[in-house]
Amino acid sequence: MPDLTRVSISLESALLEAFDRHIAAKSYATRSEAIRDLIRDRLIQDEAHQEGGEQVAVVTLVYDHHARELANRLIDKQHHHHELVVSSMHVHLGERNCLEVTVLRGDAHKVRHLGDELLATKGVLHGEMILTSGEQALNQLK
Ligand code: NI
Repeated sequence: MPDLTRVSISLESALLEAFDRHIAAKSYATRSEAIRDLIRDRLIQDEAHQEGGEQVAVVTLVYDHHARELANRLIDKQHHHHELVVSSMHVHLGERNCLEVTVLRGDAHKVRHLGDELLATKGVLHGEMILTSGEQALNQLK
């Protein structure tokens, strides 16, 4: 365990009770671990909106593969920015629908732009982009 500093904070009782219910539901063993995760998440989200540096993103897309043009457009966009695409997993959800999970990594602005572009592709039924930091920034959060 890295060098630890103990801090004390004051919270309204109702806020603390709500937080304790929340962390119990999320299966945290201790408040400290839950608070560390909250702080890291906040710092990573903040970092994610800075320019420059390395960005990692996980993009999920759900679409109907019968929409042939859509599937081709998604593949074309990924090939066009192949230097940003680390890996992609395709799951056939059923007869029609596909789930694609793609990991992007690279220049923060380019990664977010490609993720937004994939999500905005006409015909995508549902999707989400989760942003996290690259190796260097993560190492500063330990
Ligand atoms: Ni499929």
